Formats: sequence, C-alpha cells, structure tokens
Amino acid sequence: MENGSFLHKTAARSAQMYREAARWIPGGVTANIKYFTPYPIFMDSASGAYLYDVDGNQYIDYNLCYGALILGHGDQRIIAAINETFSHIGTTIFGTPHRLEAEMARVLVDLYPGIEKVRFTNSGLEATLLAIRLAMAWTGRKKLAKFEGHYHGSYDQVLISVTPQKRNLRRHPVKTSDSLGLPEYYAENTVVLPFNEWDQTEEILHQHRHEIAAVIMEPIQGGFIPPDETFLKRLRELTQQYGIVLIFDEVKTGFRTGLSGAQGIYGVVPDLTALGKVLGGGFPVGAVGGRVEMMELCSPASGVDILTTEQQPPSFGQDQPLFHSGTYNGHPIVLTAGLATIQVLRESGVYPQLEANTTQLRNGMEEILSRYGIASQTVGIGSIFNLVLADLPVRRIQDVLESNLSLRRNLDTHLLNQGVFIKPLNRFSLSTAHSAEVIDETLERFELAVKSLVRK
Ligand SMILES: Cc1ncc(COP(=O)(O)O)c(C=O)c1O
Repeated sequence: MENGSFLHKTAARSAQMYREAARWIPGGVTANIKYFTPYPIFMDSASGAYLYDVDGNQYIDYNLCYGALILGHGDQRIIAAINETFSHIGTTIFGTPHRLEAEMARVLVDLYPGIEKVRFTNSGLEATLLAIRLAMAWTGRKKLAKFEGHYHGSYDQVLISVTPQKRNLRRHPVKTSDSLGLPEYYAENTVVLPFNEWDQTEEILHQHRHEIAAVIMEPIQGGFIPPDETFLKRLRELTQQYGIVLIFDEVKTGFRTGLSGAQGIYGVVPDLTALGKVLGGGFPVGAVGGRVEMMELCSPASGVDILTTEQQPPSFGQDQPLFHSGTYNGHPIVLTAGLATIQVLRESGVYPQLEANTTQLRNGMEEILSRYGIASQTVGIGSIFNLVLADLPVRRIQDVLESNLSLRRNLDTHLLNQGVFIKPLNRFSLSTAHSAEVIDETLERFELAVKSLVRK
C-alpha cells in the first residue's frame, strides 16, 4: 500500500460518508485536525480501549479524543455519575450557580499548586484566551510571548508559529502564520521564543521586557517533549523579575502527568494555569486558575460590568472588571463527568499502572523498530508519548521536523490498516482501559504494520 491509499477495500462506507459530509461541511470535518488524506475514518461506536468504524473495522484507540479520554470509552463510573446527576437535578443545565462549580473549583485548588481561584469555560481555547486577557489586564501590556511549536487553541492571538519553519538553531525563531485571516495586529504583538534554548529565550525576553504581558507555554511541549532540567525554573525567575505573567497551558498535561499536571512534577508554580481535556471526562470543558489577585480581576462584584448596568460604560483603559462569560460555563453534567474521572484517578495505583502500561508499549515499539532497522525513539512523560523516527535527542520541535516524517506518516497508515488508531503524525495517549493484554495486542498489530511498511 502506498502512502495515502488508506483502506480502500474495507473503509468504503467511511469514504462514502466523507464524500457526503464534504457536500455540507468544509472538508467534511468540524475541526481541521480531524482531517487526514485520503479521508478521515468515520466511527460508529466505542468501548474501553476500542473504536469501531462504520465499515465494522475495530481499532485500538491511541488518539482518545486527543488525550481527553483518560479512562477510555464509556467508563461505567462516569456514566453512572452522570445518570445520578440527571435524576437529581431534573434538568440539563440551570443557567445559575450550582453546587458542583465550587466543588470542582475546590478540587483544582487542592491539586494544582498554581491555582487559588478558578473560572470554568467550555474548551481549552477559551481557557487560554481568558488567561491571556487576565495577564493583559494585570500588566497593562499588550504583547504575548509564546513558544515555537506550542499549541494553545484555534484563535488569532495564538495561531502563530505553531507549525514553525525549519531553522538554523543559532538564529531566533521566525514568526509563521498558522491560518488565513489573522490580522497583522497579532503578529506585531507576538514574540516567539525557542523552547529549551535558554540563552535565546533570555535574550528575547530581555529585549521586550517592558512590553510583554505574558509568556504562555505548554510546560511539556506538545504534551511529550519535557523541559530541560532548569528551563522552567529559570523562566519562572526571569518572568517574575520582569513582571511578566507566566501561564502554563496544561490542557494536554493536566491530569496526564499525575493529578497535579506538569507543575506538580517540576515544582514550578505559574501565575495562571489553563486546563481542559481530561477535566471534562469526555465533555467540552476548560478552566483557568491562578493567583487570587489576578483571578479576582474578573469578579463582577468589583464594579460596573457589561449588560448589567444602567450607568454609562467606561471608556477604554478605565477601571472595570475583566469580562468573562459563557452560557454553558460550569455545566453540571460536564463537571459531574470531570469529578467522576478525578475520583477514579485519585485511587491508589491508577497512575503507576497507567505509566507501567505506557512504558511496556513504548519499549515494545522501540524494540520492534530496531529489529527492523528503523531508527526511532519514543518521547514522552506519563501516559502521552510520541514516536519520533530519528536517533538524535529530541529537545524541541525543530528536532521533530528533522526526523523522518514521511516514513512516520507511512507507518501511521499501516497502523490504521492493522487496527491501531492514531491521527497520522500525532502523539499517542493511553487510558486506564489499555490493559497489559491490550498493549500486547497492540504490539502484535504494530509489528504487522512495520512488516508491511518495510515490505514496501
Ligand atoms: C495545549 C493545548 N491548549 C489548548 C488547546 C485547545 O483546547 P480545545 O481544543 O478544547 O479548544 C489544546 C487542544 O488540543 C491543547 O492541546
């Protein structure tokens, strides 16, 4: 099978559904990331570690909704909790404050060193957006510093240099655009930093120290490339010195690298933290937490707020609360699913088992690839990793760009054909439903995929 010629015999219904969807939906997908060539696979049902597509093919799922499903598909404990909430509250949503909001907020304050107060959103995107607005309001500055290769959601301010160009590592990163339709304003007011390259990062931050409101980052790049030992600590010290707000975007890493995310394992406390994915137990969610004095900026109790006053609105720059709203924020069903997930994760032995199974898979994949003469390594922490087809150390996105991406894409196509579901070129995420037996089964399929790859 050649690159791109995916499952033509057995995915005929997916192909047909894709053609139909594309008549009504641009590209046939509702999120660009879900697209791949020649067409994405349409799923019909799921259970535990498995997905079943509309053609009846079974896959072991390593995408897990981009990492959100840490307990796998259809965990009965989540479903039971949702049913209980439904039968108790008698509605889908109140549109008012309710008990579960403070309950979840208290859990997050308990678990995350950088969180003292919390606001909920409906997505990771909205969480990072709110965190950035808080930082701008707190500092009165208008520039945002972000790292090359770090993703924070699909909106203008952060769609810069997510997919960078290859560059000479002695040079500073260049700004690249990740989308059509981005106003110049954002490029002008974004400073791009190189992850894990301290000297350059320090130099760039020093140069813009009076203009930068916040540094936003994935503390573990892409959820899988760990920071160098002192990188986060130095960044914390420097941002403090310059009065820059440090935002950890832990949408991927939250609850993945343990209950307290990356900040828990590295002992570095950001000013603001964005969460999402696992927090919603498979439902749309986001949250921002941080230092009390910053979070309080969005308290409507502190002054005149939008749509709630008969007074004249203030002009730009005058005192007013930072506006944050959302019809569905703090949705009771979403918070129920999230609380049920966290309750399971808190049971003793859950993370060690998840990590042991992840290690079993990573070692097995590396061993198979080396037997077939393919240079490779798995890179990651906790229950997320990526497979990089290169033998040099991977410390930044530039190292991934230098790896054999076309071979990796080919391998991914073969994996799909063997019933291992990943989004081509994306990372692998595991769940508690991926038992040692499921890993063994995966490794058998993995070897078949590698065999058919090398045969080509
Ligand atoms: C680190 C990070 N931040 C933000 C987001 C955006 O989250 P959402 O897709 O829920 O808007 C993502 C999504 O993948 C992410 O990985």
